[in-house]
Amino acid sequence: MSGLRGQVDEARGRLAQARRVAVLTGAGISAASGLPTFRGPGGVWEEFRPEELATPVAYARDPHRVWAWYAWRYRMACEASPNRAHELLVALERAVGDGFLLVTQNVDGLHRRAGSQRVVELHGTLHRARCEACGERFALPPPDRFVPPPHCPRCGSRARPDVVWFGELLPAAAYRVAHEAFQAAEVALVVGTSAVVEPAASLGRVARRAGAYLVEVNPEATPLTPLAHLSLRCGAVEGLELLLGTQPS
Ligand code: OAD
Ligand code: ZN
Repeated sequence: MSGLRGQVDEARGRLAQARRVAVLTGAGISAASGLPTFRGPGGVWEEFRPEELATPVAYARDPHRVWAWYAWRYRMACEASPNRAHELLVALERAVGDGFLLVTQNVDGLHRRAGSQRVVELHGTLHRARCEACGERFALPPPDRFVPPPHCPRCGSRARPDVVWFGELLPAAAYRVAHEAFQAAEVALVVGTSAVVEPAASLGRVARRAGAYLVEVNPEATPLTPLAHLSLRCGAVEGLELLLGTQPS
């Protein structure tokens, strides 16, 4: 354990010194808020195959079914609260300042609700819809008043969830900003993602190749684990507390 303690101390030191820090989060960081992950035990994808719901083809075939799934997740996200792991990343952002970027694959909005500001939501958000005709983006009404599918406030056409589906490209500008931050990072922190969905999964590799100190927090090993300088095999709250919380005496 003394080896691990030494590595944690080193990671804490690097995080405290670094002027450029890039963080990538996935569904695991919201597990402690009660939101299910996609893969693994209790994951959403155990019940639903992604290609049945999170694709343009699925939506074209059965928009009501796809919207029902997103409306359910939207309600869950609204009813959930950010957890201590989200809060610790807010504190890290305040400490690092302009050289900080948080890139999330999550669509639950919990990072912003916790207070994170330098956030890239790479896969969009459950809280918005996007007009299928004119592209207008707009916030959904509160879950209690929301009856899917929503219609565009500008042109009246049907709107789709404002998320990225399998087979769709990530928003180019958002990905470029994310890529640059990981390329430039002195420390890269990857939390709660299975790191199997590209291109988000490769951001950790980009940082590592460019010389960053790479830290992973995940209860299970991932394709990134062999590259990480430090891999904390625990939940996000526990791991970020170790890395960023008040130092235990
Ligand atoms: P996944 O569901 O693929 O992976 C969740 C990861 O969180 C797993 O590696 C778990 O081991 C880990 N995990 C579980 N509990 C945890 C905890 N308490 N603390 C920390 N980690 C924990 O979720 P993502 O990697 O985010 O994309 O999935 C990536 C993308 O795949 C999603 O954004 C979504 C999905 O398809 C789209 O919908 C486009
Ligand atoms: Zn419209």
